[in-house]
Amino acid sequence: MPAGRTTLSEYLSQQTAEHQSLNPDLSKLILEIAKAVQEIALLTSQGALEGVMGSLESQNVQGETQKKLDVLSDEILIQTFQSGNLVAGIASEENDEPLSNPKGGSFLCLFDPLDGSSNIDVNVSVGTIFSILSSPSNTKPAVSDYLQMGRQQIAAGYAIYGPATMLVFSLGYGTHGFTFDAISGEFILTHPTIQVPADTSEFAINASNERFWEPPVSRYINECKQGKTSVRGRDFNMRWIASMVADVHRILMRGGVFMYPKDTKDPTKPGRLRLMYEANPMTFLVEQAGGLGSTGRQRILDVQPESIHQRIPVILGSKNEVERIESYHREYDRAEH
Ligand code: F6P
Repeated sequence: MPAGRTTLSEYLSQQTAEHQSLNPDLSKLILEIAKAVQEIALLTSQGALEGVMGSLESQNVQGETQKKLDVLSDEILIQTFQSGNLVAGIASEENDEPLSNPKGGSFLCLFDPLDGSSNIDVNVSVGTIFSILSSPSNTKPAVSDYLQMGRQQIAAGYAIYGPATMLVFSLGYGTHGFTFDAISGEFILTHPTIQVPADTSEFAINASNERFWEPPVSRYINECKQGKTSVRGRDFNMRWIASMVADVHRILMRGGVFMYPKDTKDPTKPGRLRLMYEANPMTFLVEQAGGLGSTGRQRILDVQPESIHQRIPVILGSKNEVERIESYHREYDRAEH
């Protein structure tokens, strides 16, 4: 290996030596996840060649049609955790109920095995998101054991299957990115201590939902669109990949604000994204990189979960923009009530 290249296992050993409070088993768990991610990356990179594209007849607990790759990725992660003795309980976006590991363990792992899966068939980046909590019980954790606030996460991360496969995670000491080197078969630290700039001129939102937004969100987006001619005094750019991993990755790389806000499109749902599999882990990473995550009315990491598949509004990214959007919500709520 060329000098100066830090591999994932070297980085994890350094971190464990440096931070006394880090459970050494956490490093082992990250290495297990990295192995699973390599398998999923191989499957996604094979695309149509492996016959894993397209949909299954079934729907997941969220009422979405499952893709073959969703199910395979889910199985890879479950098998990984159940063959080890680190994770006591597993909650996946794809399964109604959490699964326990007969071998027990000190962690709970919650994950979205293949986020943005509507992009699979069109060969656009997708990813795996994970959130790690301490398990209050070594075997058979109860559902209530999972209902911990986002700020209680001990680690979180994602893998992005894009032009390069990357693993980006935080153990609570900054957010760091590793790129998979297919030649050496190692993840290499390529993006140490990622920082999200506090200011940005780029926003990401599904603008086709505009008529369902609340007034503070419409106000913010209209000002951005009017750019120089608005109170903002500068022009904004818009990006929307419709794959949260890819959109948040861009924000970690160069700043921006990502929004899937509260809307009235489906009044039974308080938001589109899932608190435990998407909002919490992504906010943890963004905040560890100096950004912020909010529902518009509350810091996401302070939300007390009520159920593992709960949905929530998400506004995250560059700190000053997220704070501005929060202030628009406050002004609106004050005027209304
Ligand atoms: O989890 C669902 C997801 O695919 C996210 O990855 C993405 O940000 C969002 O949904 C896309 O939603 P829409 O299809 O409304 O653009």
